[in-house]
Amino acid sequence: MQTDRSAELFSRAQTVIPGGVNSPVRAFRAVGGTPRFMSRASGPHVYDADGNPYVDLVCSWGPMLLGHAHPKVLAEVGRIASGGTSFGAPTELEVELAAEIIGRTPVEQVRLVNSGTEATMSVLRLARGITGRDKILKFAGCYHGHVDSLLVAAGSGAATLGIPGSPGVTAATTADTIVCEYNDRDAVLAAFAEHGDRIACVITEAAAGNMGVIPPAVGPDGDNFNAFLKRTCQDNGALFISDEVMTGFRVSRSGQFGLDGVEPDLMTFGKVMGGGFPAAAFGGSRELMAHLAPAGEVYQAGTLSGNPVATVAGLTTLRLATPELYARIDAASERLQAEVAAALTAAGVPHVIQNSGNLFSVFFTDDGVTVVPDYATAQKQHTERFAAFFHAMLKQGVYLPPSAFEAWFLSGTHDDAALSRIVEALPAAARAAAEA
Ligand SMILES: Cc1ncc(COP(=O)(O)O)c(C=O)c1O
Repeated sequence: MQTDRSAELFSRAQTVIPGGVNSPVRAFRAVGGTPRFMSRASGPHVYDADGNPYVDLVCSWGPMLLGHAHPKVLAEVGRIASGGTSFGAPTELEVELAAEIIGRTPVEQVRLVNSGTEATMSVLRLARGITGRDKILKFAGCYHGHVDSLLVAAGSGAATLGIPGSPGVTAATTADTIVCEYNDRDAVLAAFAEHGDRIACVITEAAAGNMGVIPPAVGPDGDNFNAFLKRTCQDNGALFISDEVMTGFRVSRSGQFGLDGVEPDLMTFGKVMGGGFPAAAFGGSRELMAHLAPAGEVYQAGTLSGNPVATVAGLTTLRLATPELYARIDAASERLQAEVAAALTAAGVPHVIQNSGNLFSVFFTDDGVTVVPDYATAQKQHTERFAAFFHAMLKQGVYLPPSAFEAWFLSGTHDDAALSRIVEALPAAARAAAEA
């Protein structure tokens, strides 16, 4: 009889871990069914607890740009770990990783931290410390980690004052958070007209990836939304923060900055730069970063920050992330987007596929919708169609992100064989979506 170790483990996990998982999306609640418990991974494949292989389009939610268990990353991790795993003192590796990040982006200095959440939390404190202002402006549907002041209900429409999006987040914490619809320039201008001299910063995903992929829209002036935000911040003495935790070192060697060239005041990074280990960073100009302790007065610290094992995994990953690697991932992404579109069209399933560079996602929209510019539109998609599509793909050995609102992630190891397996699974999944 076929075993289902994942079901057994999930049942046990639920007795010892809330909801059975350590990060909510892993529980499959958006698609139903039992999450696969993974036991190992190699190249483009993950293997569940029963040893079943899947072509992986999650890639740990972004970090595994080189594919799983890259031999050079493993060798460096082993070499460094055997010399001690944490010193709580500065190391040469941290200088090297900082220099590598600086070499790819417009920042002049970075501070290393342990997670994207920590990076965004810290960068907000820095922006508020520098400007002496309290308010922050974020966008509905943009996710910046589980920072209290950024966990704000995604209100539709223009400039809504923040309402806490989770019990335990106090009204006081979010009272200074202004939420606008993504890509809505009028809403941003209205927020600045009302609160201008109290807004410390605007924080945005460099290209939105956490409500499905929504790139910064190009306006009538030819500038994209990021350029507009930068200009508006400049006009109002606020700082422009670009969160590149997801896009950084993934959509190009310089992230979304490499695609649109808009220079933020402050940036956050994570995922790829940790090479599958807990590492993240925030950075900006020397002048702005000089406000951070111990150089300046804005406090920020971390016992494991710049941990040597995580740092060498990230550094090795970035050094192997060459222009050729990005070209390969871009080509794979283009092919996959075209194949998904063809399969859905053949099955008569209305959809919109959006991308920023190689990062893309599929919206199961109403017929006639051609663009998804914001969260309000993204929320109108048919998630039940995605769930049927997802499970049909899973059954055929393809592991998609278990939510309609997530980006699909590729790696340099998604070769012809891996892509062909995905492509072969698409017609049945598209038919399942059509019938849902
Ligand atoms: C854009 C963005 N910012 C911040 C975060 C939070 O990062 P972490 O999960 O490492 O705390 C994420 C996580 O998905 C993200 O996509």
